Amino acid sequence: MKKDIRRAIIAGNWKMNKTRPEAKELIEAMKPLVKDAGCEVVICVPYTNLETAVELTKGTNIRVGAENCHFAKSGAYTGEISADMLTEIGVEYVVLGHSERRQYFGETDETVNKRTKAALEAGLKPIVCVGELLWERECGITEEVIARQIKLDFFGVTADELKNCVIAYEPVWAIGTGKTATADQAEEVCGFIRGVLSKLYGKDVADTITIQYGGSMNAGNASELLSKENVDGGLIGGASLKANDFAIIVDAATKG
Ligand code: PGA
Repeated sequence: MKKDIRRAIIAGNWKMNKTRPEAKELIEAMKPLVKDAGCEVVICVPYTNLETAVELTKGTNIRVGAENCHFAKSGAYTGEISADMLTEIGVEYVVLGHSERRQYFGETDETVNKRTKAALEAGLKPIVCVGELLWERECGITEEVIARQIKLDFFGVTADELKNCVIAYEPVWAIGTGKTATADQAEEVCGFIRGVLSKLYGKDVADTITIQYGGSMNAGNASELLSKENVDGGLIGGASLKANDFAIIVDAATKG
């Protein structure tokens, strides 16, 4: 992390977990544990918990995010939620292009790009996820895959808009598998992403963009990952569902 030039952000991605009473319990447990955080703390929760999360975190240092949004303003898109619907209830962040969306719900770089632009237009801060599959890494094309995703997902996004975006590098083989990328592997790809941004937007802009690592980040490995210069935080799945573990990761970002 280089906290002097870019924001460190620890974001929980709850995925499809927690009923409303369970969400309340987790947020209440989390609040006192992260109140002195020296980084931005975000919880990205299922749609049904958004209003509850916004209510319970009012006046605290916890920000609320959604896990997806549609690109249209409104219309015949059964089951979808627009970016305006999210901002209207006080949501600030939105996860886009998560590998589970790409893998199970037909998300493509084209739709990630459209969602990113719609989110920015509505005033949301997108957390855009990129990452290679295991066989892509084994074939030695990690950098090609990542560069392609960055170029497509941010196509038409201006430098000013990019400043409101967060990028999460999540190697698909490390998500929910317990297999974490080593700190050096995370640093290598996060640094590579910054290089791609530098070519597209210039070094001054690239240096200010928060690039998170995600994929089995937990209380035990967070400090080492966050000690790397280009790893500016984490997108945390499993470990964000336990208040104590999440707080330890926030502490690691505070100290780092
Ligand atoms: P994980 O998930 O921490 O459970 O691997 C990370 C993510 O999918 O964002």
